[in-house]
Amino acid sequence: MKFLFVLLLSLTSAFAQTKLEIIKIGHPTLRATALEVTQSSFSDPKFQKLIDDMIFTMGKAGGVGLAAPQVNESIRMFVMKSWPGVPLTVVINPKIEYIESEGKKNSSEGCLSIPGKTLNVKRFKKIHISYFDRNGTYISKELSGFGAIIAQHEYDHLNGVLIVDLVEQMNTMMNFTGFTNAPLM
Ligand code: CO
Repeated sequence: MKFLFVLLLSLTSAFAQTKLEIIKIGHPTLRATALEVTQSSFSDPKFQKLIDDMIFTMGKAGGVGLAAPQVNESIRMFVMKSWPGVPLTVVINPKIEYIESEGKKNSSEGCLSIPGKTLNVKRFKKIHISYFDRNGTYISKELSGFGAIIAQHEYDHLNGVLIVDLVEQMNTMMNFTGFTNAPLM
């Protein structure tokens, strides 16, 4: 009986994630500088639920990254996940150092807040990122490859920057709509 109850409880919580609305370009929250997550938030069930809901929403939207401002929460947090290579990561209050000596590379990106557009931007190949995970553990590491690309895209969201801001004038003619292969973040 107790087992059944626990099973029921865990099933209920497994289905309790909410698919959040992803706001679109033109919404002022996407242009705001997001605020640091406070120390007390980590133990707040509402904050932990927001993280779960963002992970759920990212999956439902077919995205590899999602930043809190995209669900109209102006706080410095994002989630990312891409198979293979980028495990599910919850990033809170990140600081990024771009490793300029490694140079930049082209990146074709879609944004969940800019439907139907793929833009070619340039990203640093390697970054150093430090942040807190959802338990409040401090993490400091280097990222390269696709993980570094996603992190740079999401970090921009925390500062009100969208990929449309990064496209150079020369590049504009080469950008087009309807391209569906680009990762959404
Ligand atoms: Co985006």
